[in-house]
Amino acid sequence: MRSEYCGLVTEALLGQNVTLCGWVNRRRDHGGVIFVDLRDREGYVQVVCDPDRPEMFKIAESLRNEFCIQVKGVVRARPAGTTNDNLKSGKVEVLCHEIHVLNPSVTPPFQLDDDNLSETTRLTHRVLDLRRPYMQRNLMLRYRVAMEVRKFLDANGFIDIETPMLTKSTPEGARDYLVPSRVHDGMFFALPQSPQLFKQLLMVAGYDRYYQITKCFRDEDLRADRQPEFTQIDIETSFLTEEDIRAMFQGMMKTVFQNTIGVDLGEFPVMPYAEAMHRFGSDKPDLRVKLEFTELTDVMADVDFKVFSAPAQMANGRVVALRIPGGAEMSRSEIDAYTEFVKIYGAKGLAWIKVNDIAQGRDGLQSPIVKNLHDAAIAAILQRSGAQNGDILFFGADKAKIVNDAMGALRIKIGHSEFAKKQGLFEDRWAPLWVVDFPMFEYDEEEGRWNAMHHPFTSPKDGHEEFMDTDPGQCLAKAYDMVLNGWELGGGSVRIHRADVQSKVFSALKIGPEEARAKFGFLLDALQYGAPPHGGLAFGLDRLITLMTKAESIRDVIAFPKTQRAQCLLTQAPSPVDEKQLRELHIRLRNPVAAPASA
Ligand code: AMO
Ligand code: AMP
Repeated sequence: MRSEYCGLVTEALLGQNVTLCGWVNRRRDHGGVIFVDLRDREGYVQVVCDPDRPEMFKIAESLRNEFCIQVKGVVRARPAGTTNDNLKSGKVEVLCHEIHVLNPSVTPPFQLDDDNLSETTRLTHRVLDLRRPYMQRNLMLRYRVAMEVRKFLDANGFIDIETPMLTKSTPEGARDYLVPSRVHDGMFFALPQSPQLFKQLLMVAGYDRYYQITKCFRDEDLRADRQPEFTQIDIETSFLTEEDIRAMFQGMMKTVFQNTIGVDLGEFPVMPYAEAMHRFGSDKPDLRVKLEFTELTDVMADVDFKVFSAPAQMANGRVVALRIPGGAEMSRSEIDAYTEFVKIYGAKGLAWIKVNDIAQGRDGLQSPIVKNLHDAAIAAILQRSGAQNGDILFFGADKAKIVNDAMGALRIKIGHSEFAKKQGLFEDRWAPLWVVDFPMFEYDEEEGRWNAMHHPFTSPKDGHEEFMDTDPGQCLAKAYDMVLNGWELGGGSVRIHRADVQSKVFSALKIGPEEARAKFGFLLDALQYGAPPHGGLAFGLDRLITLMTKAESIRDVIAFPKTQRAQCLLTQAPSPVDEKQLRELHIRLRNPVAAPASA
């Protein structure tokens, strides 16, 4: 039915007869001549319909947007001055001899090249939205990336093994999606949050190098970079050290970027978690932003300003400054807006100092707080931050977690602003990074207990096993995250391969022997049969493509995504089911919803 893709008709085909199939993007009537922009997945081509073929011309006149048509014609050069450099086919056009309407279309609810469509409209009419070149480019890149990943892994001896979707819950820290069992009254499967335990079992089973590009399901609060079902490039290996694993998958990412979008990611710096938190208040710092915290906790303990001295004296308190070069030009209302912004993260305020003339000491500073600070504190602020005339310093003082969250977010907010770009505080480049030496555990103050920071199968650093009993907060893990431009792209760890160490971690997490048996008995058993040292990691494919395409949202790189409220607007899922289905599943609803009219 077709000799070429519309978008690939170029000068190479000049003078040749072609047969094209595609959709009418637009029909333009130009006093006796009709132009049709014909579109397929490779792009557009201009089709010219002259009235000297009346039969064909009559059909051309009847064409409307989104009709699916077949066109036969000859490729010719566009007249001088009418070429379009934005299109691959922009130097040529197809002089039409014959048109067949393969299928007409009703009037679409929107113009496909409208750039201001709401996301609700786009997701409701996803089929039409997916026809748009923007979405086609995104999904084709996604395919190319997946292919490159498979090629790399295949060349390195990895094999793709599928793992179950109906499974027992794995603790990756989110809520499970549950699937009721019809056969077993009152019992549930969980959809996997990741294939974590199965890939470890495959290592024990001797498969040595495993991978899978697979769906994971997490019922968590959705954010811009999250979906309830998302895709992982999931990997596990035996007999590789932490450093071996990082080197191999840094190589994979570099290859994928090079072969798909021609980007050299360069070297990946390696930064301990503690340093990332200390300098940037984040375990996924965006290194494109050239702003850093200045630590002030030690000098603020004895100042006459409770806002600073109270957190400085607290065991888990922190006081930092964030110096913004050139920021003294910020207006009062900008400062107020940033103050409101940090409150989202629990900060109680945002103290600031404008540095007008550093030579004048405290008289050269403009600020609501300097009167409360003694000379030594002011000297430390200016000296440690490297303050210069024209800067503004922002301050965060609170529990360390709040300071890190609030000031870390402020660093990104200011660092991505037009102001930062103008001041050269933002470098437009690719900024990859490994964050390593994560703590094994984090303390949950509400519940008064330690939780696994990565997951409970992560190995402690050599020599850190003892901390599990004495001081869990000191215990570091063989865990690593790959960060790109401030996003956590992937993460993993070397696993525990000995049942006794695994039991010790469970007990640090206050998972008793019976509970451990009930939940993870199959893993503990497997570890007893000569389990090899093993480890791995998983990358978020959706996040990777979002970064590569610079898409606005993760939903723009998924064909059929869920909304922020975890719904599919296209199919209207989730939806009520009828009483018969529920009865078979032994389910009675607490708040019955109207069942759909049965088909
Ligand atoms: P983790 O939970 O860090 O590790 O997940 C790995 C990567 O998956 C991506 N990701 C998500 N992407 C979109 N929406 C979500 N809701 C979402 N949640 C996670 C992120 C993240 O870095 N089993 C371990 C891996 C391992 O230890 O090997 C795991 O799942 O890019
Ligand atoms: P106050 O004395 O409460 O009026 O606060 C003086 C300044 O300190 C104001 O600029 C507040 O925004 C700021 N501030 C108050 N609490 C904090 C805090 N926890 N961290 C940083 N700045 C704060």
